Formats: sequence, C-alpha cells, structure tokens
Amino acid sequence: MKNPKKKTLSAKKNKTTWSGRFNEPVSKLVQRYTASVEFDQRLAEYDIQASFAHAQMLSAAGIISTKDLAAIEKGLRQIRKEIHKGTFNWSLELEDVHLNIERRLTELVGDAGKRLHTARSRNDQIATDIRLYLRSSIDEIIKLIIKFQFSILDLAEKNINTVMPGLTHLQIAQPISFGHHLMAYFEMLKRDKHRLFDCRKRVNILPLGSAALAGTSYPINRKIVAKKLDFDDICMNSLDAVSDRDFAIEFCACSTLIMTHLSRLSEELILWMSPLFRFIQLDDRFCTGSSIMPQKKNPDVPELVRGKTGRINGNLIALLTLMKAQPLAYNKDNQEDKEPLFDTVDTLKETLCIYTDIIKGVHVDINSMRNAAIQGYSTATDFADYLTRKGMPFRDAHETVAKAVRAAEKKECDLSELTLPELQKFSQLIKKDIFSILTVDGSIKSRNHIGGTAPSQVSKTIKSARKNMS
Ligand code: ARG
Repeated sequence: MKNPKKKTLSAKKNKTTWSGRFNEPVSKLVQRYTASVEFDQRLAEYDIQASFAHAQMLSAAGIISTKDLAAIEKGLRQIRKEIHKGTFNWSLELEDVHLNIERRLTELVGDAGKRLHTARSRNDQIATDIRLYLRSSIDEIIKLIIKFQFSILDLAEKNINTVMPGLTHLQIAQPISFGHHLMAYFEMLKRDKHRLFDCRKRVNILPLGSAALAGTSYPINRKIVAKKLDFDDICMNSLDAVSDRDFAIEFCACSTLIMTHLSRLSEELILWMSPLFRFIQLDDRFCTGSSIMPQKKNPDVPELVRGKTGRINGNLIALLTLMKAQPLAYNKDNQEDKEPLFDTVDTLKETLCIYTDIIKGVHVDINSMRNAAIQGYSTATDFADYLTRKGMPFRDAHETVAKAVRAAEKKECDLSELTLPELQKFSQLIKKDIFSILTVDGSIKSRNHIGGTAPSQVSKTIKSARKNMS
C-alpha cells in the first residue's frame, strides 16, 4: 500500500457493481479468470424472462411502484432486442450475464433499473437461469430423441424379415431379425426419454426468492414468480436452492447413458460396414476417405460419436467433482458448472440430429447378413432343442450337436448341408424333419413370444411402439 491514493483512483475508474468496499481493482488476469460472461451470456434470454417475472412480482407485492415496473419492462424489452440483433455490448469488466444486463437496464431506465435487484441475489438468479435453460434444453432433446426413434422404427420396419447373425462375445450365436436388433436401440432410447422426463421434474422447481442464501426480508410472493415462469414447484430451502446443482448432474448422468447407447450403435455400424462384415453401407455424407489408402471409406461420424461419449462422461465427472464436499451455501465453484453443462447439451443435440440422418442413410446388404448367419452354425441351439423335444436331456443334446458342428467344420459346410445318414451317426432321434429346423428362417420364426425375434412378434412390437409414440 505505498500509494493508496493512486489505487483508490484506479479502483474508481474500474468501478464494478460490488466494488464499493474495495480499495483496489482486480488485476486484468483476475478479472478474466473470475468472469463468466463469455460463456454465461447464452443464458441472457432466461435471465430476462426471470427478471420480468421478478419485477412483476415486486410490483404486485407493492415492493416497487407500477411506474418502475413499466420502466423495467421497457428496458428489458430493449435489451432483448439488442441481444437478438447482436448490438448488445458485453463487457468482461461486468463479470457475468446478470451484471451486464442490469448495468444496461440502468443506463436505459435509470433508478428503476437499480431497483430490479431488490429481494434478489445473483445466487438465486443464476440457479433460476440454469433451470430455465435446462428445462428448455431437455424439451428440445426429448423431441430429438423422438425423431431418432422414428428413424429407427422406419429402418426396423423395412428389415423385419432380414436375417442376421445375432452375436454373443462377438461370436455368431443365433439367427435374429435385423429389425429386432434395431428395436433393441428403440428400447434404450425409450428409457433415455423417460429418464429425461423424470429429470425434468426436479429441474422445474423455482429457486428465485432464496436471495443470497437465507431468503429476504421483503414481503415477496414466490408463487406468483413460479406461475409466471411455469415452474411446477418452489425450492423449499433457501440454502439448498442457491447451492443445489443435483439437477444438472442428473441431466449429465442421463446424457452419459444416451451417449453410451449411441456409442454402442456406432461401434456396431462401424463393424457392420467394415469389409470384413459387409452388412451395411453408410451414405457417403457420413464418411471420409483416406489421404494415403485409396480404397478406404471411413465411418468418421459414428467414430466421432463413439469418441464424444468420452467428453460427455468427463462432463458428468467434472460436475460431481465440482460439487463434492462443497459447504453450504453458494460458492463460486458453481460458476464452473456451466461449460460442462452447455457442452453436454450442445454435443447431445448435434449427435441426436446427425444420428437420425445416419439411420436414414443405412443401406442393408441382406444377402451378406443372411450368409453370415447361415455360415456360423447359428441354428445349433435349434438343433439341440429339437433333440430335447424328442426326449434327449438338454445337456446331452448340447454335446451331440457340438459333435455335429465339429463334423461340419471338418467338411467345411453348414449343419444343414450334412446328409441325413451323416447326422444320424450322432443320434438315431434325428429324422428328415431336422432340415426344416436347421434353416435360419425356421429358427427365427420359432422364437415367437413377447420380446422374441420372430418376425410376427417384431412386427407387433413396431406397430405398438408407433402407436405409443403418437
Ligand atoms: N456468475 C456466477 C455463477 O455463475 C453468478 C453468481 C455469482 N454470485 C456471487 N455471489 N458471486 O455462479
């Protein structure tokens, strides 16, 4: 403090909303380090909506005059316009979205603007803004999931009778309908959607009115604000309300599951379009070539979806770590919640949009899929079931069929290509009717129960899924 006079002067020059009790301004680096306006300005529309509701409540409760309310509303409308037009002057010195808007409001309407912050703190303000933002993001994401589900339904419907090898351990297991396989993803997405509906319930609760942490001494009416902003309920504890970010963590957790599902689908698309599988082709718009290997067509988009799952998982861990061991109530740590949350919302929205399109660009090589199912002894279980039906204990049937598979491998043919006498060497229970059992279509058709792969079941499932979507 060698020259306090000079510092006081520069503090005055760099005056912020809260700098009244400070002797010196923050350094440029600290200013940049603590400011959030570069990323939280995207909350501006929600900040304005909440300010409208807050001001209207203040006026209804007689805390500010109707004249002040009219001035505030006029100013907020003007600010909204400036932000839309891109003419609003965002200033790093004003730290965040709240102070930027408040300063401009005061410039526009004078003292009425300064009254808007009565009975409010940035702590309950930001908690409200994020909830409004997340609520609308969830609604958009649910719509995108629904579109994606429809694209799955369309492709599944076209492939009810397409036979493919079902895999376990990535080894050929049993033949299945490709439509049935796709409907597995429909189910995952259905759960994802329901998780978001549920998460929305905990997002849609109003923190405003909690002020800094303890509530306010003004006669506020939180019900009016909740109603105006379409919140279902009001946060019941002011300390919890300003510091709770569970809802954001929960949303990020829901998102990790969505991305996990999409990463699984991506992995499958990547395998299926490999020349080693040749099950599908993806439209060129989702692929790139190699700069050195002319024959390559790389499934870049599914690969990136698989890769981006990592950042979505990272965002969840970032928020959990941010909140771990935070004492009540608000701490500046919470400012770090926004970028991971925004990144999750943005990545998820883009991924879902792209994926809906990817599914429309999947071209199935029906013969390749069917041949893979036929060649992989995928009807061996049906063979064992056949022997069991004829009275052989299942464990013995399993052993008998394993021997038949070994014989077919030796002969380099499918089970159905062994002759009846060759098959009968393994068991006299085997009769001519075995050949209908050994076909992949027969195998699929026989799994005819709720949740099974029989085409008639898959068709029913798709129909009822469509009905429940509308
Ligand atoms: N920018 C802050 C955030 O994102 C707003 C709340 C600031 N509150 C405070 N007391 N400094 O969390």
